Amino acid sequence: MRVLVTGAAGSLGRVVTVGLAERGHDVVGLDLVPAPDGTPFAWHEADCADADAVEAVFAALSTGGRLDAVVHLAGLPEEASLPDELTSHVITTAALLDAMVAHRVPRLVYASSNHAVGRTPRADGELTEHALPRPDTYYGVAKVAAEALMRLFADRHGIDAVACRIGSFLEEPASVRGLSTWLSHGDGVRMVEAALTAPAPGFAVLYGISANTRAWWDLEPGRRLGYEPEDDAEDFADRVEPSPDDEVEAELVGGPFATEQFHRPALGG
Ligand SMILES: NC(=O)c1ccc[n+]([C@@H]2O[C@H](COP(=O)([O-])OP(=O)(O)OC[C@H]3O[C@@H](n4cnc5c(N)ncnc54)[C@H](O)[C@@H]3O)[C@@H](O)[C@H]2O)c1
Repeated sequence: MRVLVTGAAGSLGRVVTVGLAERGHDVVGLDLVPAPDGTPFAWHEADCADADAVEAVFAALSTGGRLDAVVHLAGLPEEASLPDELTSHVITTAALLDAMVAHRVPRLVYASSNHAVGRTPRADGELTEHALPRPDTYYGVAKVAAEALMRLFADRHGIDAVACRIGSFLEEPASVRGLSTWLSHGDGVRMVEAALTAPAPGFAVLYGISANTRAWWDLEPGRRLGYEPEDDAEDFADRVEPSPDDEVEAELVGGPFATEQFHRPALGG
């Protein structure tokens, strides 16, 4: 498949671009920043929140053959003001979806987040794809809105749109919570490839974690799309130090993002 990967210079982007290329996909990178030295595939420097810039990238790409999909990883991975979050996640997704409709690109895979449902109590039991939106931060609000936009474009335009609610994408789990929420590098690539290649998913949500022994997020929606995780955070459990925050971080899905340290005005910066 010919795939445009936004946020290609980021922590997810660097791993996903290389992984997809190794699996034989024709990758094109896009980021605000230049391609890292030695990048072996095409690269566009552009701001995904700038609809004209995004359209120009799609127009340039249309001369080089059909684009099959967009993997949208560009965006702030942390909490900021509500306007900044909406720009980073909703406006960027809108600009990409508009360009996809205009250029007949049929599939979007999006790096959504567990923080879209981060205020869900763990005591509610296994977290399924049917959990209602329950964001823990303005970051989570923006992920909810980006998912809603994907659903609208799936319904209106028939775009296949897979929202991957990612847990903690790291080389190794870094906290006790991470023993449940970890997504390994290898599984991250497997997840994105499954979301890219599943036959006709329509709008779908999956939880982006590895096959962690301590997982309590439902892996079934991902498995239905062909995502078979292979790694388990438990293999690293003896290297994870307990912390005084572990208990409070275990109460709600979003862990630290769902705690009071993030309570701040929506428009206050
Ligand atoms: N890392 C995680 O554990 C995790 C978990 C859940 C969700 N996510 C989501 O995955 C995505 C990527 O996260 P990451 O950890 O790789 O972040 P990152 O900050 O490492 O990388 C993001 C990349 O996107 C680029 N970027 C940001 N805004 C852009 C824009 N408007 N136009 C073009 N490029 C832009 C940045 O330059 C950067 O290279 C984010 O949407 C984040 O919310 C990440």
